[in-house]
Amino acid sequence: MPSERLFPASELPDGTARLAWPNGKAILVVNRGGTFYAVDGVCTHEYCELDRGFVAPAGAVTPTITCPLHLSRFDLLTGAPLDPPAEEPLTVHTVSVDAEGWVLLELA
Ligand code: FES
Repeated sequence: MPSERLFPASELPDGTARLAWPNGKAILVVNRGGTFYAVDGVCTHEYCELDRGFVAPAGAVTPTITCPLHLSRFDLLTGAPLDPPAEEPLTVHTVSVDAEGWVLLELA
């Protein structure tokens, strides 16, 4: 699947997350310490958009997003849930920043 330009990386400050909707699918893009991650944007437990979740600070060993509804954490590298009640992983997508500073997404 071709890469899609989402938004300028400068619009996503360190420690924040936002949703993008390529092909109508919610994708969460996270900037953590200047590294970008992309995973499915809706929790696998119940319907909760994860852009309202909590990004682990850059000092934490594992990059995670915590669902704001029941507090399951997901590993941003693997998509795996690290705490209940979520049991199913988020799909991880490929994200990068191009030479002009735009976030590029390639859906898995
Ligand atoms: S909706 Fe995310 S943990 Fe329940």
